[in-house]
Amino acid sequence: MLTFVFIQSGHLNSKSVLYYFCIMKHKGIILAGGAGTRLYPASLPISKILLPVYDKPMIYYPLSVLISAGIDEILIITNKRDEENFKYTLGDGSKFGVKIQYKIQQIPKGVAESLLIAEDFLQNHPLVLILGDNIFYGGNFNKILKKAITDNKYATIFGCYSKTPQKFGVIELDEYGNVISIEEKPKKPKSNYAVSGLYIYNNDAVRLAKQLVPSVRGELEITDLNNLYLNLFELKAVLFEKDIFWQDTGTFDSMLEAALFIKNEECKTGQKIGCIEEAAIKTGFISQEKCFENISIYPKNQYYDYVYQFEGDKKYV
Ligand code: DAU
Repeated sequence: MLTFVFIQSGHLNSKSVLYYFCIMKHKGIILAGGAGTRLYPASLPISKILLPVYDKPMIYYPLSVLISAGIDEILIITNKRDEENFKYTLGDGSKFGVKIQYKIQQIPKGVAESLLIAEDFLQNHPLVLILGDNIFYGGNFNKILKKAITDNKYATIFGCYSKTPQKFGVIELDEYGNVISIEEKPKKPKSNYAVSGLYIYNNDAVRLAKQLVPSVRGELEITDLNNLYLNLFELKAVLFEKDIFWQDTGTFDSMLEAALFIKNEECKTGQKIGCIEEAAIKTGFISQEKCFENISIYPKNQYYDYVYQFEGDKKYV
């Protein structure tokens, strides 16, 4: 489906001229399925992606990343057991001025399966895929992501410096910053740049994902999809500077580290990280008044007090 974007020009011959052009908007996918067994028994009663990281459920972080990037059509892929909990937490997205749909992944068959599950939702649109357990914050993260979305022709991945790259996909780069190879959890990593769980793809992604075969561990690997793009010379890597915080919260320790970082940073700056309401208001997806109306059903507490006051100039009455 084409999305028409109308741009009202300034003043030309004292008359406003309406330019229009059509673009395919990027849609967003949050992968929030998986069995979560690595975090049992903590994730036994509820999806790990709904567990709190400091003061909000984990999914608030990737969702606010997509909203801050200007993406307002989002698919959350979850497992059957947890679908209702996600719906209870986020609904259809209208309370944030966005559209959220849900699809179920029956069995965790790999990150790249998300593209096959999302085929109907995507309707040939380009997309941003983010893993539900990845947290990004700081530096010029929002600016860099928005620029990467605008610049993306085929596929873009984001590399983050890691002391333990062997736990992730690893990017090998030449002296000019071109990607030479990507390896999934290599025993001998060729660099310290881990592939973070954030990917931008053009509308070839579903077609290419259909060519994938399960890996030795029985999964459709996102690294294999990225390698298909790489072999076509269509893969770009953006490397984050160390001032951008990235955490894959897949273990007890990394979840706690992320929570402590967020607590310290929020206390230090007075700014919340991963506040969906703030992201939606700042992006213009919802008015401050409408957002306040929506959250008025919740009790006043530290989180909602922040939402009411984050701009400072428009106090909630
Ligand atoms: O976090 C970045 C890393 O994510 C990348 O560096 C790797 O290249 C990529 O393969 C992936 O590795 P992980 O080992 O961290 O993936 P994991 O199996 O932990 O899954 C990541 C998230 O996606 C997790 O929250 C569960 C969800 N998931 C995973 C699979 C395999 C699903 O929803 N469905 C699945 O089938």
